[in-house]
Amino acid sequence: MCGIVAYTGTTEAIEILLAGLRRLEYRGYDSAGIALQRPADRADTPNTPSTPSTSSVADTATPASTLAAEPLQVVRRKGLTELVTEADGSTRNKGMIEQLTEAVAALADTDPLRGTCGIGHTRWATHGIPSEDNAHPHRDCSGRIAVVHNGIIENYAKLRQQLTAKGHHFASQTDSEVIAHLIEEQCAGNGGNLREAVRTSVAQLSGNFALAIISADEPGTIVVTRNDMPLVLGSFEGGAIAASDNAAIIEYTRDLIFIDDRCLAVLHETGAIEYYDPAGEPYIPSGYHFDGSIEDAQKGGYPDFFLKEIHEQPRVIRDVIANRFDLKTKTLVFDELPLTDADLAVIDRLYIVACGTSYHAGLIGKYLIENWARIPVEVEVASEFRYRNPIVTPNTLVLAISQSGETTDTLEAVRLARRAGAHVVAITNRVGSLITQEANTVFYLHAQLEVSVAATKSFLAQVALITLFGMFLAQERSLLTGPQIAEIYGEMKQLPDQIEHILANTSAIKTAATACKDATTALFIGRGVGATTCYEGALKLKEISYLHAEAYAGGEIKHGPIALIDPLGLNDPSAQTPVVAVVTQSTTRDKMISNIEEMKSRGAQIIAVATEGDRRIAELADFVLYIPPTRECLSPITASVPLQLLARYIAEMRGTNIDQPRNLAKSVTVE
Ligand code: G6P
Repeated sequence: MCGIVAYTGTTEAIEILLAGLRRLEYRGYDSAGIALQRPADRADTPNTPSTPSTSSVADTATPASTLAAEPLQVVRRKGLTELVTEADGSTRNKGMIEQLTEAVAALADTDPLRGTCGIGHTRWATHGIPSEDNAHPHRDCSGRIAVVHNGIIENYAKLRQQLTAKGHHFASQTDSEVIAHLIEEQCAGNGGNLREAVRTSVAQLSGNFALAIISADEPGTIVVTRNDMPLVLGSFEGGAIAASDNAAIIEYTRDLIFIDDRCLAVLHETGAIEYYDPAGEPYIPSGYHFDGSIEDAQKGGYPDFFLKEIHEQPRVIRDVIANRFDLKTKTLVFDELPLTDADLAVIDRLYIVACGTSYHAGLIGKYLIENWARIPVEVEVASEFRYRNPIVTPNTLVLAISQSGETTDTLEAVRLARRAGAHVVAITNRVGSLITQEANTVFYLHAQLEVSVAATKSFLAQVALITLFGMFLAQERSLLTGPQIAEIYGEMKQLPDQIEHILANTSAIKTAATACKDATTALFIGRGVGATTCYEGALKLKEISYLHAEAYAGGEIKHGPIALIDPLGLNDPSAQTPVVAVVTQSTTRDKMISNIEEMKSRGAQIIAVATEGDRRIAELADFVLYIPPTRECLSPITASVPLQLLARYIAEMRGTNIDQPRNLAKSVTVE
């Protein structure tokens, strides 16, 4: 999972490419690079000649050179290699875009990056370690063709072998580099027609890809194509642009264009774009007008997107709930679902497939759907589901939950379910994402762009939506009446205010974070939906603070995890293991109190998430994070918020990169 951006037009490309990369940084942040066509007056005759190098990149050893004798200007940087000391004495690692921007600036006097046509890339390593050699753009042997790639070329090893046998020299360990050499080979065979060379090269690739290609021999032209990977295009007064995500484009145009798998687009500096199908015939792509705000992609005054997105949750929940309940008929409305009453009546099993945080939303969904609609629900991580032989029939309804709509395992699970004849409903936040093209039905979360890699607002939106859908299924099966639904829906409408109340009262959360920030492990316990809330709370803590955390159903702790509680904690607070207990008003509250006592009496430090007014918990716990009273089925939506904040404060105190935790990526488009 990487990000690509490409621009050709009448303005200098470098700023447009760097701005695009900043917006795509969430897709991968271990290295970044750009390639520019030299302007006509400098093509192949750079201002400052330098010694040609056998290396294909400007590396850290040659910081002020793009190897000026080369036909395309290429600069690549690996991020997080330089430590910066801030004015207040604190240190941080420089991000890859910052390093890339500095490298570009350093070239201003010797070989300035000028040119109005270029491509850029942010990388999340799959094949080959994060390094400058493996960073994109990759070039062919002549250095005249440059390629950026998002995806995986599955048959790259065979292609590399064939191309090497023909004399091609490879400079990286990546799967992507074969594409540049393949295109070079095809160009040589067709008289140098780049578009045709890309088309015939792509026909030889298996795997998934979004590609942007430039050649020194076709000034002002960029060829892009895709297969199973996102790519958005647009044209505007200043030229034509393509990128992996709307966020890199909407500053220039809001009329977005999507091309189908293996179709090609040729972008011209006039802004004109030609489209071709896989056979090379002219083709008409689909379009979409985007109304969202560019502010969505900015931090809006918060120190990080994670915190900003936590604070957006009241609005997100309001939006998810809005217009789902028809006051006149007292019914929930899911107009997107094309299934008739008869179709719904024969559904005998529901699968929820998802990964990561979305999987946790699915676990909550199981609890609610089974409770209300009495349909057996199985929740499965998509990477397991896709490799076994699940019992899926035309009477199975499959809910595929994916914030990004791009997670490969979830997409494959969707395909498997479709092949077996199931109706697949995708729950996603990304308009036009791949899952929307694969599923029968799409429920959008409308949580707007989520930039922080660790999900917050999209999770709450998923839980709220699946809560409504659980009630809807019960309504359709006559298991919940209009007044019953109206009552729960009425309580749901109070959730945004309740979340705002939690967000306005964070001092107890900060105090608890201070007390356990130096722990080496933390346990989370809860029961029922409280347990699933804990699974997500522990994941958030792990993801952003790197503090090891495990979540268990309260009844399970005595079957193993309790061994982690060090009795030294009875006398020494610094030896206490933090135990985060979700113990809100519920049918199992008293059982949870027993579990807390078991942990406390063995030396644990208890941080309880409890319902306002519950004094008993205050007697037991070291810290209590109170949330407003709500019915049990809705409690994950409020109880998750203090857990998100706890993770956020601990991460801040431990000095981690909150928005971009190490080794993680926002969209996981590899297995
Ligand atoms: C990655 C992200 C997680 C996310 C998971 C599933 O691992 O880092 O935050 O929960 O993918 O993503 P999806 O977009 O399918 O919900």
